[in-house]
Amino acid sequence: MAREFTSVGVVGLGTMGAGIVEVFARNGIDVVAVEISAPALERGQATLTRSTDRAVAKGKLDPADRDALLDRVTFAVGLDALHAVDLVIEAVPEHLDLKQRIFAELDRVCKADAILATNTSSLSVTEISVATSRPNQVIGIHFFNPAPVMKLVEVIRTVVTSADVVADVEALCARLGKVDVTINDRAGFIANALLFGYLNHAVALFESNYASREDIDAAMKLGCGLPMGPLALMDLIGVDTAYEILDTMYRRGGRDRRHAPVPLIKQMVTAGLLGRKSGRGFYTYERPGSPVVVPDEATPVAQADAFSEGGRAIAKVGVVGSGTMATGIIEVFARAGYEVVSVTRGAEKSASICEAVKTSLNKGVVRGKLSEEDRDGALGRITWSATLDHLADVDLVVEAVVEELSVKKALFASLDEICKPGVVLATTTSSLPVIEMAMATQRPADVVGLHFFNPAPVMQLVEVVRTIRTAPETVATARAVCAALGKTSVVCGDRSGFVVNALLFPYLNDAVKMLEASYSTTDDIDHAMKLGCGYPMGPFELLDVVGLDVALAIQRELYLELREPGFAPAPLLEHLVTAGYLGRKTGRGFRDHTHR
Ligand SMILES: NC(=O)c1ccc[n+]([C@@H]2O[C@H](COP(=O)([O-])OP(=O)(O)OC[C@H]3O[C@@H](n4cnc5c(N)ncnc54)[C@H](O)[C@@H]3O)[C@@H](O)[C@H]2O)c1
Repeated sequence: MAREFTSVGVVGLGTMGAGIVEVFARNGIDVVAVEISAPALERGQATLTRSTDRAVAKGKLDPADRDALLDRVTFAVGLDALHAVDLVIEAVPEHLDLKQRIFAELDRVCKADAILATNTSSLSVTEISVATSRPNQVIGIHFFNPAPVMKLVEVIRTVVTSADVVADVEALCARLGKVDVTINDRAGFIANALLFGYLNHAVALFESNYASREDIDAAMKLGCGLPMGPLALMDLIGVDTAYEILDTMYRRGGRDRRHAPVPLIKQMVTAGLLGRKSGRGFYTYERPGSPVVVPDEATPVAQADAFSEGGRAIAKVGVVGSGTMATGIIEVFARAGYEVVSVTRGAEKSASICEAVKTSLNKGVVRGKLSEEDRDGALGRITWSATLDHLADVDLVVEAVVEELSVKKALFASLDEICKPGVVLATTTSSLPVIEMAMATQRPADVVGLHFFNPAPVMQLVEVVRTIRTAPETVATARAVCAALGKTSVVCGDRSGFVVNALLFPYLNDAVKMLEASYSTTDDIDHAMKLGCGYPMGPFELLDVVGLDVALAIQRELYLELREPGFAPAPLLEHLVTAGYLGRKTGRGFRDHTHR
């Protein structure tokens, strides 16, 4: 029989604590909510009221249920109020000495059989537990932000946590409607160990002016389907809390430099830019605690029309190549009203790409997304050719041929001879340096990267890659074209992986390393990222879709360019690729897909 929890205590009513109070009270459990001072208590109480009022306004909570929920919560200053509760969850700032002091005090105040839990994200639960005389009753219960929304709870057992306590807490999580993964005490547990290297890396890209905050966030939302971008997430987590988590992970997690907090984070903490809770972090908010972003001096002026920035008029577009990307890109341009010249290496290839575009457009008609008239209009705008000479009068060329530098360079040299002056020459490469192609021409200022995502007609994002030689009007033209295609463009520098792959693949590689270290299982790691961070797919699901060989190639490129030891491909990834386990396309990757 699992133990009955009728009353729980929550210590610290900040970003996490207030949400945790709500989770318990919503599920019919009495809560004693404790803060360090009267003003802090008032703030916590106000957060709870706002959150439950919002739920009522959205129709997710009955007004009567809200009142009952609030009635279940008793507010108090000081830990003494916790003498009768069955379980305490501590959610004070991420400092070991503070938490140890609080646990020593809780040990003194709470009844003998009370379970003492910490919501720490990165500190050692074991070190916290030994501040009490009952380390076997100490456990980690790690909720995710916002606690009332996110389904995941990581339950952390130390080497001394008693099995009964673990089982009771697991049953409690189920009662709260949460999905738990139970794991050992390691820095960052599952989700944060995979998340924080990525967040820190995103801040480093921002700090080095590699891309703007809006572009970094848009890239990860639209390129990977994440619920929010990394900088917006830093603001939600709290920049100070993120700093402490990174710092602890760096010290506890093997001094991986990728966890050494980027200097900007510390500067922001010192300057009081703590994110949503202080009203300003990477973004500016309506008021402290508000999720509503308001414009500030860094907000880009509304997508300027390209011509005010010297952008060029584009009417006719050449697309070179006959693969998946070329097919999608031809369709995208033709549907948006551009005249398109498709160039392949031969009549046969032209015939087959023409068929592929027709098939895709017909699908659009069948699905009701495109009228027959628009389909015919789009097809009528495309000419099919096997000669580069037909690109003599286009305004923009998009190259989407095989991902081989020598082939692309030769193509750019030919385009340089054929195309009229002032043409924008774009490459869709996902891994080669754009500057290499630019320097194969006599007009590097006109060369830019246009990194579409697959399938191009569906994916919203285009990365516009500017090299150190790209002219501002070339970038402006590229952005204007993306806008005319109905895509969101983000501008970034010419580095391996651009924004999306540079941030995504090291995270996937880290997940493989975690699996390799036997810390957790593929299922639990996938669960943790989906339910704790709202990712559309877990890392192993995604790796099997992308292809392990593709992931390994990208990870190798990143490692070679940046020489970051933490980017070294996981040996397990290399072994699986060597064994031919490439993911869905071969029937087996991290999972066996043949029987599904
Ligand atoms: N922010 C997140 O996204 C997140 C997610 C999961 C876990 N966590 C963890 O939750 C814990 C709390 O983080 P947070 O982001 O909510 O911090 P926070 O700074 O938003 O809130 C901490 C609260 O603790 C209160 N406090 C400080 N000393 C206290 C004391 N002696 N007694 C009672 N209350 C005290 C503060 O007044 C404040 O309200 C940390 O361990 C953090 O790592 C945070």
